[in-house]
Amino acid sequence: MARLSVNVDHVATLRQARLAAEPDPVTAATLVEIAGADGITVHLREDRRHIQDRDLIMLKKMIKTSLNLEMAATPEMLKVALTIKPEMITVVPEKRKELTTEGGLDLRLHRGKDQLKRFIASLKDAGIIVNLFIDPDPEQIRNAHKLGSNGVEIHTGRYADKKDKTLKEKELKRIYNTAVLADRLGMAVHAGHGLDYQNVSRVVQIEEIKEFAIGFSIIARSVIVGIERAVKDMLELVR
Ligand code: PXP
Repeated sequence: MARLSVNVDHVATLRQARLAAEPDPVTAATLVEIAGADGITVHLREDRRHIQDRDLIMLKKMIKTSLNLEMAATPEMLKVALTIKPEMITVVPEKRKELTTEGGLDLRLHRGKDQLKRFIASLKDAGIIVNLFIDPDPEQIRNAHKLGSNGVEIHTGRYADKKDKTLKEKELKRIYNTAVLADRLGMAVHAGHGLDYQNVSRVVQIEEIKEFAIGFSIIARSVIVGIERAVKDMLELVR
């Protein structure tokens, strides 16, 4: 049975729209846990457009499941990670102007360089599980393995975006092949980005994927039906 980690960034997006005190992502995270989710995910962006440093401190204190912190591999973020010590870090690429993360890390750019390897080792030394967010590409998996990452989160955004049935199936096959390879190499296999109540079921059929990080679709539905119902509906599909 796969686990569901709910990304509550967009509760903070709503709060930051008015620079107000509500809605609070920490309260939302508690309700998400009560609804039965297995973990909470947040992305601390360099520009702090949604999640704030204060949220992280409180989330770490409040949540009882598992905190997955998405972040870029920068010295600033390393300091945050080693202070907060979440259970898991997912390393993502970050561009200031993007609406959301646009793709996985290109680990080919890190070949022969030590920076990312040292970043991963520092987190692991602190007892934090490290995953790298990568596109569904076997070469990226092999590089992630060489860098010493505990696991990978496979980017499902391109699968989610494809309208054409044949192209969608092609993307799904890519995700499947990548998941099988990562699993064979002994890495933890997670997946996320763009998954919703309509498209998640096909990806859930890939047994090698043990955890899903899903945010936007759940928070969007929660505005209409409430967060407990939105999480439970997704849990039913994921499990
Ligand atoms: N996984 C990663 C690495 C992400 O960056 C995001 C978006 O913050 C998600 C999962 C969740 O994506 P979505 O909000 O589209 O469900």
